[in-house]
Amino acid sequence: MAVSYDLARAAVAERLSASALAHSERVAQTAGELAERFGVDVERARLAGLLHDWHRELGAAELVARAREAGIPVTGVDEDVPYLLHGPLARVDLPQALPGVPDDVCEAIGAHTYGTVPMSPLAMVVYIADVIEPGRTYSGVERLRERVADASLEELFLDTYAASLKHIVKRRRPMHPETLRVWNAIVASDGR
Ligand SMILES: [Fe+2]
Ligand SMILES: [Fe+2]
Repeated sequence: MAVSYDLARAAVAERLSASALAHSERVAQTAGELAERFGVDVERARLAGLLHDWHRELGAAELVARAREAGIPVTGVDEDVPYLLHGPLARVDLPQALPGVPDDVCEAIGAHTYGTVPMSPLAMVVYIADVIEPGRTYSGVERLRERVADASLEELFLDTYAASLKHIVKRRRPMHPETLRVWNAIVASDGR
């Protein structure tokens, strides 16, 4: 049986700080709205949004060690920016930590840091919700929010992913090889 939103919220509240919990709830709300707009399962989107940062507050060394134990490839970029691993590691750990989380929800959570190929509609919804939830204030976020009304899910994801790439470049952060693979897959499938 699928885990309820309330049970998942209680589990998240035990793990995360108040600010991270508030972010997770805003992502759940935004993911639910996006799911409704784009014809994706609303309950699963809300659950994935709520749980997406399950491992967000693990320390860097623990993330790297546990990712290695779990067989997740740990690249030099992950060693430089270990928090990237909080998505893939949650994908591995959540089914045991919180039984009853549907597999597609875990997949979407696993894809919310550097994405994956292919991105399911649910994974795109969660990725976008994390980037445009109402607490985000970076320049360009308003433009993405406006596009919800008229873009397709694929177009909105492309624009959102492009905004993430810009952020990486602007902050002079290293680019994960998976990010490049995802970007190349997105533009290859884009009809423009
Ligand atoms: Fe995250
Ligand atoms: Fe997040």
